Amino acid sequence: MSGVYWGATALHILGQPERLDKAQLIAWVMSCQKPSGGFAGSEKHDAHLLYTLSALQILALYDSLDLVDASQVAAYVAGLQRGDGSFAGDEWGEIDTRFSYCALYSLALLRRLDAANVPAAVDFLRQCRNFDGGFGAQPGGESHAGQVFTCVAALSIAGALDEVVDADLLGWWISERQTPSGGLNGRPEKLQDVCYSWWALSALSTLGRLAWIDAPALTAFILGCQDLELGGISDRPDDAVDVFHTFFGLAGLSLLGHPGLAPIDPVFALPVTTVTRLNLAAQRLSCA
Ligand code: FPP
Ligand code: ZN
Repeated sequence: MSGVYWGATALHILGQPERLDKAQLIAWVMSCQKPSGGFAGSEKHDAHLLYTLSALQILALYDSLDLVDASQVAAYVAGLQRGDGSFAGDEWGEIDTRFSYCALYSLALLRRLDAANVPAAVDFLRQCRNFDGGFGAQPGGESHAGQVFTCVAALSIAGALDEVVDADLLGWWISERQTPSGGLNGRPEKLQDVCYSWWALSALSTLGRLAWIDAPALTAFILGCQDLELGGISDRPDDAVDVFHTFFGLAGLSLLGHPGLAPIDPVFALPVTTVTRLNLAAQRLSCA
């Protein structure tokens, strides 16, 4: 399900959505919905918040959200919230700030944010904030740019970004993710990887501090990861290409204003045209 979201959104960013058959795509997405209201990653899999969000994002992209029973899906999502405000990914109970983002974003798409305890969700995210300004997967977890994206975006949807985030400290931590290659890594001492051109850069954009990295160097790194025969983008130069790194490479280039790409929204990870059509609200910060 997430693979379909990455591919379909990449094609929209490239201005070529007609390359996929909308009716076939939507029928397949709906065939993955379970009696609980949640969506699975594929027909014979179990429901999970990750795939519920991806399914709703695909439906949003194709203006088809009216196909779901919003109250039923919202009850599934809200039912995964724990007393401490965190969200489990599914019935088996793994807790991760990724699931806080998936839950709040799904409820925002369904216009049912009131179904969850949003102040408790914000309190949990606050507990996942570290001394370096970053966020981890759980309280005490190491700061990680993937988790920084999910926490910043979740707080933005909750309207609590200014309450919880120290934008200068976190902006510094994110800008330190740029390596001499021009690419960004996800944590100190890790290798640069194209997907962090999304996880790290989107958060910097939401914080109003996109200018804090060297954009031409990052652009050159991403373009250097494209396979000029197959067209796709890999994690690092000369590695095998895949749809995940292709989408997040294009998404990073779009945030940088690269010519020929439609603008992407840094909180909702969908084209700005889709976010505007749906009138989705999220808080942004600016640099003083
Ligand atoms: C890095 O993972 C990325 C994350 C931890 C964030 C993932 C976020 C989601 C799945 C939420 C949905 C996202 C969107 C865009 C709608 P990794 O396992 O590759 O980290 P590593 O580089 O440390 O291995
Ligand atoms: Zn990667």
